[in-house]
Amino acid sequence: MASNSSESRASTEVPAPYGNGPAPQGQAPERKPAKVRIHHLQQAKREGTRFAMLTAYDQYTAEIFDAAGIEVLLVGDSASNNVFGNETSLPVTVDELLPLCRAVARTAKRALVVADLPFGSYEVSAEQAVATGVRFLKEGLAHAVKIEGGAFYAPTVRAMVQAGVPVMAHIGFTPQSEHALGGYRVQGRGDDARRLIDDAVALADAGAFCVLMEMVPAETAAAVDAAVDVPTVGIGAGKETTGQVLVWQDMAGLRGGRMAKFVKQYADLRSTLMEAATAYGEDVRSGQFPGPEHSF
Ligand code: KIV
Repeated sequence: MASNSSESRASTEVPAPYGNGPAPQGQAPERKPAKVRIHHLQQAKREGTRFAMLTAYDQYTAEIFDAAGIEVLLVGDSASNNVFGNETSLPVTVDELLPLCRAVARTAKRALVVADLPFGSYEVSAEQAVATGVRFLKEGLAHAVKIEGGAFYAPTVRAMVQAGVPVMAHIGFTPQSEHALGGYRVQGRGDDARRLIDDAVALADAGAFCVLMEMVPAETAAAVDAAVDVPTVGIGAGKETTGQVLVWQDMAGLRGGRMAKFVKQYADLRSTLMEAATAYGEDVRSGQFPGPEHSF
């Protein structure tokens, strides 16, 4: 029988930063960091292991995804079209995203929290990007930020990193440039792969700790991953990236409508909530709820 004494705990305790407490008797300790840091993602790249990333925009999803072991939570500008009811990610503002970011960062105990800098909040100058990045770390309590764009933004990334703002770079299809790119289109096909490789190398050289690729052929994404030492994350970019990310409402089937090819749905929350809300409405209208057990 497992003893609870501090003596037996000491013999099985896992050294920091892998401090998840003692391993069950006879089992190898689970090698999970107590807090996911950027260097753990870099370690994953070096060791050929993978990590998972999901968007989160509020307390309960942050709590659940964190407890489920998701390594990175992204307070994405996709809140624009998944929380605020906009059609695209363009209208969401810094002041709208900051409170969502604070809620996620306050709740997550283990995950690395990354915040998107919304459209218009970093493109004007490196100074503007530094100032917005600082706001997300200071007021939003984020651990890092993400910006969209290629090699052109390397000087911006360098300035942000020098100011102490860790940056994840987002290349390939960049939703904030939806209109400039002519809609949702796969990027980096054929000869265009070279452009994405150059973008990734320039951004990594400038200090980006990770490169995220969206809607990029698997072969191109693999070439990008091979060209940089930093970890990569994919969304619609095949399986050769270090990590994968999905928007949580897509992953859990809360959003209705057409899904992108790269989405895998792991639940049907939309039907579950629809059934619950319908049953509740019927119970209220028929006088079934509240019952005596719900009354004082
Ligand atoms: O905002 C977001 O959800 C994103 C993902 C698509 C990576 O940037």
